[in-house]
Amino acid sequence: MWKGRFKENLDELVLDYTASIDIDKYFAEQDVKGSIAHAKMLTKQGILTAEEGEKIVAGLEKILKEIKEGSFPWRKDLEDVHLNVEMRLTELVGDVGKKLHTARSRNDQVALDFRMFVLDRIKIWQNGLINLINTLKSRASEHIEVIMPGYTHLQPAQPVSLAQYLLAYAFMFKRDFERIEDIKKRVAVSPLGAAALAGTTHFIDPDFVKQEIGFLDVFSNSMDAVSDRDFVLEALFCGSVIMVHLSRLCEEIIIFSNPCFGFILLPDEFATGSSIMPQKKNPDVAELMRGRSSKTIGNLVSLLTLIKSLPLAYNRDLQEDKPPFIDSDKIVSSSLVIMSRMMEKIEFDAKNMRKALNKGFLNATELADYLVTKGIPFRESHYITGKIVAYAEENGKGLEELTIDEFRRFSDKIDEDVYSVLDYKNAVKRRNIEGGTGFDSIKVQIKKIDAWIEDKKNGGSV
Ligand code: ARG
Repeated sequence: MWKGRFKENLDELVLDYTASIDIDKYFAEQDVKGSIAHAKMLTKQGILTAEEGEKIVAGLEKILKEIKEGSFPWRKDLEDVHLNVEMRLTELVGDVGKKLHTARSRNDQVALDFRMFVLDRIKIWQNGLINLINTLKSRASEHIEVIMPGYTHLQPAQPVSLAQYLLAYAFMFKRDFERIEDIKKRVAVSPLGAAALAGTTHFIDPDFVKQEIGFLDVFSNSMDAVSDRDFVLEALFCGSVIMVHLSRLCEEIIIFSNPCFGFILLPDEFATGSSIMPQKKNPDVAELMRGRSSKTIGNLVSLLTLIKSLPLAYNRDLQEDKPPFIDSDKIVSSSLVIMSRMMEKIEFDAKNMRKALNKGFLNATELADYLVTKGIPFRESHYITGKIVAYAEENGKGLEELTIDEFRRFSDKIDEDVYSVLDYKNAVKRRNIEGGTGFDSIKVQIKKIDAWIEDKKNGGSV
C-alpha cells in the first residue's frame, strides 16, 4: 500500500522483522472503531459523499464482526493491523475503500488505536481493583475483633485488628484506582488529524472524532500528538504500582502461611504440593504474582528507555511500545482477579495470631502510655517500661503475667488497673482516633470504603 516509489518487494526476512501484526492484532477492534469514526467525520465534512461514507462504514462494521467472530483473514504480508483492515475493506466494498485513509496517516491512526486500547484495558484494571477492594473489605468486616501482632521491621510491634491489616491494603488499592482515574484525561485525547506529523490540508473536524469514540479531548500539537507515548508510560506506572502492592500482599501471604507463623491457611485451589516432600503446601500463586510484578516494572523501564532519545516526531521505534503494555496488561488484569479470589477463600487462624501476641511484648507501649497517665513524662516511662520488659524477659513472663509487687519494684505508680491496660484486645479497642485500629474506627473505615464503592458504581470520567 506504500509501494509506489519502490521497485523491489520487501525481503522476506525484513518483512518478518518489521511486521507488527502479531501484536497490533490485539487492538484490531479499536482500529476499526477509530476508522468508523474517521469515515463518519469525513462524510460530515463533505470529504466523502454520503453514499461513499455509508459504504465504507458498512464495510468496516462487517470487518468488526469478522474480527469478533475470529473469521477475519489476517495476512502477515500486509505488515500491520491498519493495512490488513484497509485491504479487507477494499475487498468488501471496492475502490471506494481506498478513500478511507484520506486526511490520516498510520502515525496518528496507531496513536489513536493504542490510546483506545489502553483506555479499555485500564478500565478493566479498575474493575479488578473494585472487586479486590470489596473482597478485602468483606473479609475485614468478618474479623474486626480478631487481634494479631502488627509489625515494624518485621518485629512484633503492637497488637492490631486483623481488619485494620486487611483495610490497609483496601486503601492502597483504592489509591491505585484513583491514580488510573486521574490518567484517563491524558489517555483519552484523540490524535486523529495530526496525520503524519504536520496536520492535514483537508478540512477535518477532530472534535467530531473525539465525540464519536467517547474521548475527552483532542490533540493540541500535531508533532506531539504522533510521538507522545506518555499515556502508555503512565498506564505502565499505574500497573507497576498495582503489582508492587499485590506483591507486598503476596509476600505476607507467603510469610503468614509458613507454619512458624500459621496465621493463614491457603485454600487448596491456590497452593501446590511438592513432588518429593509430602507435607508441603506451597504458596506458588503468591510467589508467581510477586515474581511477575518485576516484569511490570521492567516493562515500564523498557518504555522509558525506548522514548528517552527519540527525536520528533514519529519513529518506528515506537512500534515497540506495545509489547510491554500488552505483557503488563495480562499480568495486571489476571493478578487482580486471582488475588480477589484467593482473598475470598483464605482462612485466618485467630488462635495462632493470639498465641503470637505472647511473644514480643506487644503491650509494652500500653504500659509506657499508662505511666504517662500517672504523671510520668513519656521519656521516663519509656525507660521504666524498658527495664520492666528486660525483667519479664529474664523471668520468662509476659508483662501481663507480672504481679503488682514485681511492677512496683520499678514504679510505685502502677496499680491493679494496669492489667486491663495490658490486655491485648483493650489495647486495640482503645485506639479509636480516626484511622486507628480501634473497633469503632475500623467500622468508620468500612463505611468509607462502602460509600466510595457505591459512588464508583455510578461511573468514572470516561
Ligand atoms: N506498526 C506501526 C507502529 O506500531 C504503525 C505505524 C507505522 N507508521 C509508519 N510510518 N511506518 O508504530
